[in-house]
Amino acid sequence: MPTPLYDSLKRLAAENPLRFDMPGHHGVLQAAPLGALALDFTETGYTGDLFGPGGDAIEAAEQMWAARFGFDSCLFLTGGSTQGVHTGLALLAGAGGAVALDRGSHRSAYHALALLDLTPHYLLRPWLDQEGVTGPIQPETVEKILARRPEVKTVCITSPTYYGILSDLPVIAQVCHAHGARLMVDGAHGAHLPFLGYEGYRAADVVVMSAHKTLPALGQSALLFANGLTMAELRRMGSLYGSSSPSYLLMAGLDVARDYMEREGTQRYEETVRQVARLRRRFPALGPGKVELDPARLTIQCADGFALAEALRRRNIFPEMADRGHVVFLLTCADGPGRLEMLARALEELGVEGQPPALCPPPPPLPEPAMSPRQALFAPRRTLLLSRSEGQVSAGQIAPYPPGVPVVAPGERLEKKHLVYLKEIGYNRSDTTIEVVYNGTEKGDHDETDHCDCQPR
Ligand SMILES: Cc1ncc(COP(=O)(O)O)c(C=O)c1O
Repeated sequence: MPTPLYDSLKRLAAENPLRFDMPGHHGVLQAAPLGALALDFTETGYTGDLFGPGGDAIEAAEQMWAARFGFDSCLFLTGGSTQGVHTGLALLAGAGGAVALDRGSHRSAYHALALLDLTPHYLLRPWLDQEGVTGPIQPETVEKILARRPEVKTVCITSPTYYGILSDLPVIAQVCHAHGARLMVDGAHGAHLPFLGYEGYRAADVVVMSAHKTLPALGQSALLFANGLTMAELRRMGSLYGSSSPSYLLMAGLDVARDYMEREGTQRYEETVRQVARLRRRFPALGPGKVELDPARLTIQCADGFALAEALRRRNIFPEMADRGHVVFLLTCADGPGRLEMLARALEELGVEGQPPALCPPPPPLPEPAMSPRQALFAPRRTLLLSRSEGQVSAGQIAPYPPGVPVVAPGERLEKKHLVYLKEIGYNRSDTTIEVVYNGTEKGDHDETDHCDCQPR
């Protein structure tokens, strides 16, 4: 009988790809608890209940994570950091409130704006010209918004970014608390950092981390940490966005990943960090100095990131992400010196050294909001050629990498300068389409989408 997905995954796995992407076990480090099928339980009275009253084995495992990372409480997530970002914003901002939001947030945060009907006040990051990426959130930027908008009592920022750039969380938390606001950090890419001695997260009120991205944990398993909130509050909000049948394999995998990191994973991670430092010296790469960086993230700067990633894939090497001038490798405790030397050899053979990096110009000023993110994301929509969308209201975010921040967010009006910028960075090609809010009369640019997508839903 055909099993197309299972078959294609088995074929791919049989080729033994050198994986430097998610999940962090890279297909080589035992991530699932052994005897997976036998442990795939449901709530039985003996197995615990993720969203139940507590006092069970799940809560005991969660508490061990909370203690290890220095938080009051921890909630296991089986819906990735996406579930965590929704839960965290619901906990801190509630429904219908306001939030100072990192403009470079993942789409899960934009979706939370819509789900919770939150009003965003965007925090912009400085542009690092030489690196071609955004820098850290400046505490003064947070200070200015909180002083100007006293109704904002929730600040949400991402740290580290996809490229590994960390913001100064203790100072930002201090600014927030001085204004009676609380800080939520999307640390989706940082679950390994506290094991490496990084303490910045402790200052925040809520932190969300994707265990599956940088630790040997199964896809979708993630963690929400909180200070000053009860487990009952975490469970209540977490259950709004989580399955009522959470996977025991994912949860047991979180338990096993912590234990592994405490036994031998941290040492292996430290070795990976030393190798990454060597690779950064050997190849043009984002390096620490001007900014604080995740020591395990390797972001290579090159003349054409897409071409380099493709050339690597042809050699059975899978990076995490590529953009015009960078290729990002997610390196973890699964990657010993042997795997990293294979990567180094490939980079050398592909002539990465000495390539002048393709730099991206900074994004233009923010567009004007025409409606709320909630109105835009739930509005009827139509598909339009980007080149013909001047003056239209975007129904989603237009967020190419780089710059890695939405040039246009849901509910914002596209102006000529945004179209010109998107063209300049190679995004606005002749056939690029976007979704815009449908006002009930116009036609779209593609017949099928005109037909099925332009109807009010
Ligand atoms: C910064 C950031 N936050 C949140 C998420 C969502 O994480 P998950 O895929 O675990 O749901 C991602 C995913 O890539 C991300 O990059």
